[in-house]
Amino acid sequence: MWDPWRHALPSRPGTRGRSTKTARLAAHDILFEPIDIGPKTLRNRFYQVPHCTGFGTDKPGAQARFRATKAEGGWGAVCTEYCAVSPDSDETPFISARLWDDGDLQALSLMCDEVHEAGSLAGVELHHSGVHCPRREYRLPAIAPSQLASEYLYVVPKAMERDDIRRVQSDWAEAAIRARSAGFDIVYVYGAHSYLPMQFLSPYYNHRRDEYGGPLENRARFWLETLEVVREAVGDDCAIASRISLDALGPYGVDIEESLAFIRLADHLVDLWDVNIASALEWSKDSGSSSFFEEGWQLEWTGRAREATAKPIVGVGRLTSPDVMAQILRSGVWDVIGGARPSIADPFLPRKIELGHYDEIRECIGCNVCIAKADPGGNIGCTQNATAGEEFRRGWHPERFETATNADRDVLVVGAGPAGMECAIVLGKRGFRRVHLVEAEPEIGGIMRWIPRLPGRGEWSRVLNWRAIQLGKLDNVEVITDTRLDADNVAVYGAEIVVVATGARWSPEGLNRVTHAPIAGADAALAHVLTPEQVVVEGKRPPGRRVVVYDGDGYFTGPGIAELLASEGAKVDLVTCLDTIAPFCEETLEAPLLRRRLHAAGIRFHEGLVLDEIGEGVVLGHDEFDEPFELSTDGIVLVTQRLSNDALYLELKASEAVLRDEGVQAVYRIGDCVAPQLIADAIFDGHRLAREIDSRDPAVPIPFRRERTVDPGALPVNA
Ligand SMILES: Cc1cc2nc3c(=O)[nH]c(=O)nc-3n(C[C@H](O)[C@H](O)[C@H](O)COP(=O)(O)O)c2cc1C
Ligand code: SF4
Repeated sequence: MWDPWRHALPSRPGTRGRSTKTARLAAHDILFEPIDIGPKTLRNRFYQVPHCTGFGTDKPGAQARFRATKAEGGWGAVCTEYCAVSPDSDETPFISARLWDDGDLQALSLMCDEVHEAGSLAGVELHHSGVHCPRREYRLPAIAPSQLASEYLYVVPKAMERDDIRRVQSDWAEAAIRARSAGFDIVYVYGAHSYLPMQFLSPYYNHRRDEYGGPLENRARFWLETLEVVREAVGDDCAIASRISLDALGPYGVDIEESLAFIRLADHLVDLWDVNIASALEWSKDSGSSSFFEEGWQLEWTGRAREATAKPIVGVGRLTSPDVMAQILRSGVWDVIGGARPSIADPFLPRKIELGHYDEIRECIGCNVCIAKADPGGNIGCTQNATAGEEFRRGWHPERFETATNADRDVLVVGAGPAGMECAIVLGKRGFRRVHLVEAEPEIGGIMRWIPRLPGRGEWSRVLNWRAIQLGKLDNVEVITDTRLDADNVAVYGAEIVVVATGARWSPEGLNRVTHAPIAGADAALAHVLTPEQVVVEGKRPPGRRVVVYDGDGYFTGPGIAELLASEGAKVDLVTCLDTIAPFCEETLEAPLLRRRLHAAGIRFHEGLVLDEIGEGVVLGHDEFDEPFELSTDGIVLVTQRLSNDALYLELKASEAVLRDEGVQAVYRIGDCVAPQLIADAIFDGHRLAREIDSRDPAVPIPFRRERTVDPGALPVNA
């Protein structure tokens, strides 16, 4: 018989998270030494390199609060995303910042004010994309050094005449002057990722025969002249930075030797070299996913920049370890530690190192969901940091939590997966009297216990590890494992608020997005039919060597299972009803490298095929032209769709009168129990409920603040 009181805690006042009172290690002091960058001083060695948000100039409040939160968290400099200097660098449908006119200046000045208030420098990445310019708003032709089609957009540009060159350079200088007026301390000439300055530098894009083409000195001319005009415009007042991909690692740029030669040519014009690798088409090698790249992988190339310059150098590479950072600075190859994703996952990373609160650092897991969220022009989000992108519109701060007005209640959270763990932590930090996080399995983590076992997903275990540590620090949160609660148990548990976070499971009968029906013959109780959980958690394997993995999900699970089985010697056919393998991995920049790795593992791809029937030894289906196909196999793993584990929640909702009699005032559900979703979104959902648990109706999100652009000239006079 379930005895709820077995777990009852003595009543005690709400307790917020305790920070570990350790001192900073002396080895990390080097990270907090100031350094001059041209006319400006960086207060420490932490630098948020330019990265997109989905805010640009159109959401100035969100832009300002997002960057200022990082400044408050100790990032000595924070930069905008790429910021177009003129309309022929219109990035629509992607969202970039812009400094086309004084309206843009006003919008971005808010960021500068808030960043300065937090004691940091503000940088703006002035930019022109040249041939890689989608121009959905602008509509007129893209411009580029030569008339050569973009390798990744459907664009054939106009070859720039000398007048175009002068005009773009003058736009750059005017944008720099506006940047100075807005309050920016660091002004970029951005040439990395095969944008316009690199297009001039690279013979792949530049086939000119005039003084801007041919030998390196000529190809460097556009970039050098642009640096000159920008320096002339603002050089005494602002630091001039230039971002360069030191090695394109392919044809779309230049190699390391030419980059170093260029740095030598331009060094007198630059105060800070921001160095990285790769190109626009191969951005995946710069914002490297943890599935393929280890912390610091870029050093192999960017560690060589020092050969060409004595000026300050900032580099990147998913750096979250203070030991690695300090070692890089001590080695002298860079002067400043750059971070895009580490600063998104933990805006307070520098501050936590400074205070020696090492176990509070929320390390980036390298999943690139931030890119999937920000790049298509939405709102940046992060798997690890539910508050990323919510600083302004929802008013969330990553480290500050208000005591809830109903904190005198006891809360029961059922299910310790990503959403449940996050919810319990935030409830604990909001000072609830008692929070019980109850998990049916012997260990907490839910799906985060098995996903990191898939090939290349090991770093994702940080989602669970960070939360397990924080849960352990909260005196008012108790974690209870190995305890499966049914509706009766919940009713008499003694909690006034119940949150159901029971997750989701893969359909055992092949329910899928194409037919919206089970697949004939699909039954995971059979030896030859398997679900992902059966494969990874239970160790079930098909009866023979041949296996089909059928993927209707389109993200990492199907390929992960395929790779896992292939690594054990199975002969794997990866079949998908989608047009391509793992299309969502395109958005996380993982797809090309993933497909390459699957191919190298001997996995055969079958795209655009719908399975109709599973027999013993065979699967049958049809292609997009309704032509039948048949594959011989010993077993099939169904990665078709997930279903919420919502039975407990629905039963509780159906017995609200009984619950009320037992003193339960409210029942909510969060995460995959509501609908199967990205881990980032499940965590966000758990976080949101806890942040709004004292709102009028916590089940319904409080509307977030929206920013609208109103052109005063378009309003009626009396409006
Ligand atoms: C969401 C996101 C957006 C980015 N947008 C830009 C950008 O606008 N300009 C740029 O130069 N680099 C951009 N980058 C690349 C980063 O600046 C950085 O070079 C890369 O992510 C590697 O650094 P990290 O490992 O610290 O993330 C972006 C990266 C991310 C994650
Ligand atoms: S979404 Fe993933 S890759 Fe991006 S910052 Fe967060 S944890 Fe890192």
